[in-house]
Amino acid sequence: MLKSYFGRLPNGKEIYSYAVSNGAISLTVLDYGGIIQSLKYCGNDVVLGYNTIGEYLDNDGYLGAIVGRYANRISGGSFRLNKKTYRLFKNDGGNTLHGGAGGFSGVVWDVTGDDASITLKYLSPDREEGFPGNLLTGVKYYLTENGVGIEYTALCDKDTVVNLTNHSYFNLIGGETIENHFLLIDADYFTPVNSALVPTGELRPVSGTVFDFRCAKSIGRDIEENDPQLKIAGGYDHNFVLRKDGFRKVAELSSAKAGIEMDVYTDRPGMQLYTGNFLTGRMGKNGKKIMKRGGVCFETQSYPDSVNHPEFPSTELKAGEMYHTVTEYRFHKY
Ligand code: BGC
Repeated sequence: MLKSYFGRLPNGKEIYSYAVSNGAISLTVLDYGGIIQSLKYCGNDVVLGYNTIGEYLDNDGYLGAIVGRYANRISGGSFRLNKKTYRLFKNDGGNTLHGGAGGFSGVVWDVTGDDASITLKYLSPDREEGFPGNLLTGVKYYLTENGVGIEYTALCDKDTVVNLTNHSYFNLIGGETIENHFLLIDADYFTPVNSALVPTGELRPVSGTVFDFRCAKSIGRDIEENDPQLKIAGGYDHNFVLRKDGFRKVAELSSAKAGIEMDVYTDRPGMQLYTGNFLTGRMGKNGKKIMKRGGVCFETQSYPDSVNHPEFPSTELKAGEMYHTVTEYRFHKY
């Protein structure tokens, strides 16, 4: 693992980047936010990012970051657990998004590593952002022969709730939006949202809708359709109910122009498909603009706002129990 100086936070703290490579795959991660700053497959950088820490501090879309303790929205910024109501910091209108104002995307992680992996640790104190319990969180990025894996662990001294993911924006070709990328998602249902982008609780069949990715189609094919769910979000920004359980392939993204396919594997029940609808065209690394729909996120997780939906898979973590989940992004040429 190669450690390099990356920049400085306003409080003077030095931020470092950590890089590992096996020839086919090169990965660079920051201790700030656990951000994947660069992921190269056969020399092609397939994630959006910035060159400087200042640009990351502006937080224009959680680029490459670990999001937690609780990915996506928690309705009303509150939830009940063990007959107690917990109130969180509301950083998205009346709701909490991606763990609150100082979520895991904005903390500096402790880093160790070896030739093929980078391991980050963070101890989130009891009541940080309002969540119960001291939560010891680990994120291990590891290289595989043709991809990168992310192993999340967490252990808490109180009963709590956890939903961790990574917010990388993928673009297999670069220099254009992802609308020409083809996408397949192994999901028969998705979770429709209200006007604040919080799931209503319904599981709606994708069949006959613009959300049907069971046969690969281009992301752009239906994205401008006059569909109320697309209109709310300005594109795709929805959780898909993934078929089957256990560690399995759930999605395929490909770019014919790049000749590259990326397969997403996970053990999670859901995946937020977010097509970068809120990106604003700021300049990113390597002189490339981070334009609207310039990247696509596959945020493997439990369904958003599960804490307020007993009918969704549970995100509760009992005191002393180990939270453990794995997601892999695997690449090949085609
Ligand atoms: C959410 C979007 C949000 C974005 C922030 C995604 O996970 O689903 O609604 O705007 O993160 O960049």
